[in-house]
Amino acid sequence: MSQYFENVDLKSNITKYKTRIFDMDFCFNTDNGVFSKEKLDFGTRTLLESLPLDRLKGRVLEVGCGYGVIPIILSKVVDAEFEGIDVNRRALHLAELNKKENKCSNVTFYESNCYESVKGKYDFIITNPPIRAGKKIVYEIIMNAKDYLNKDGELYIVVNKDQGAKSMFKDLCNIYNSEVINKNKGFWIIKCILRWQLVESMLII
Ligand SMILES: C[S@@+](CC[C@H](N)C(=O)[O-])C[C@H]1O[C@@H](n2cnc3c(N)ncnc32)[C@H](O)[C@@H]1O
Repeated sequence: MSQYFENVDLKSNITKYKTRIFDMDFCFNTDNGVFSKEKLDFGTRTLLESLPLDRLKGRVLEVGCGYGVIPIILSKVVDAEFEGIDVNRRALHLAELNKKENKCSNVTFYESNCYESVKGKYDFIITNPPIRAGKKIVYEIIMNAKDYLNKDGELYIVVNKDQGAKSMFKDLCNIYNSEVINKNKGFWIIKCILRWQLVESMLII
């Protein structure tokens, strides 16, 4: 069976759904062959509601943006420069439709296999990683994020405990200073910062 993370050849049938978050209404175009085609995914919602909105600024990258929910919603509540990347062209087409549908200007979507087409560094990297694409891809996204973060940068990940949150967290701790900042119905929200940030804050103290 085709998985949502492939550039699927399923018959297109674009539909829309409405959702409310942060006291705002959004409308999203979705289609067959994309992640969470009927509603805002609960893990994604939990991730959005766990982010430090008051501190989100600068360049923000979402890896595996699907049809664009995370950058589109955030761009309405935070003044920052958003980029969303994905390998699924159908999802990226929908992301462009959704950008127009929700009247967003500060969001750019483009095709990229993990960080292949990404340029420069970011203040925040956010991901609801494609677990079904396999551990190699997921780890490429979460472990290589360190090479695309500014020195004060932060990485935020949502992962379900049934999809290996515990072992992922352990592995992240080998590379980043990592913290589980929220848990909701099995979804863990993990925050990672580069190790030197802790060293520097200890030196300042
Ligand atoms: C769990 S979905 C999250 C979608 C969206 N961010 C959301 O929260 O609704 C993961 C996304 O990662 C994308 N993906 C899969 N493999 C990828 C890769 N190698 N590079 C970038 N994105 C990838 C999938 O196409 C999918 O849209």
